[in-house]
Amino acid sequence: MKQAQSRAATVWLTGLSGAGKTSIAGALAQRLKADGRAVTVLDGDLLRHGLNRDLGFTPQDRHENIRRTAEVARLMNEAGLVVIAALISPNRADRAMAAAIIGAAHFIEVHVSTPVQVCEARDPKGLYARARAGQIPQFTGVSAPYEAPLSPALTLDTEQQALEDSAGQLYRHLLAHATLL
Ligand code: ADX
Repeated sequence: MKQAQSRAATVWLTGLSGAGKTSIAGALAQRLKADGRAVTVLDGDLLRHGLNRDLGFTPQDRHENIRRTAEVARLMNEAGLVVIAALISPNRADRAMAAAIIGAAHFIEVHVSTPVQVCEARDPKGLYARARAGQIPQFTGVSAPYEAPLSPALTLDTEQQALEDSAGQLYRHLLAHATLL
């Protein structure tokens, strides 16, 4: 039994569109589930179909997107679930807000640092091409800024290592800091 006062953690994956956040989140969730841990993924793209469907991509809307997601993550952590959040979350100040909501001791910031040229070459949803053509305003990495974390717990570059290796590195990091789980 876990101690009543213990609270599960949130792994917060930040990085550009196409960097590999969703894939790493899914692979990590599978590993944790295989260990019998209660885990859930909060994915920016999916949340924007429901909870956050009223939000766009202005700095204010991204701020609200991250605030709501962090509040949900906190509730889930308190209920004992490990949360893996996968949001571009491009602004340092917004990620600091998320850490404050979730609680710094339970917030594990992970930078999925795949370079923009690689994300753009992958362009899995064709969004970079549309952004370059001027069809998507304020597209992160093209026409809106991305502020890399200054001191993430971990940096994963899916150009340099395979997806499963990134997920494995993150999994081992969590196990090595077992109090986070
Ligand atoms: S965040 O900036 O508010 O954290 P979030 O992770 O929820 O973004 O959503 C990002 C996803 O929205 C991208 O993967 C992409 O599919 C889609 N998207 C649509 N428009 C934009 C845009 N202007 N900038 C970034 N992503 C966008």
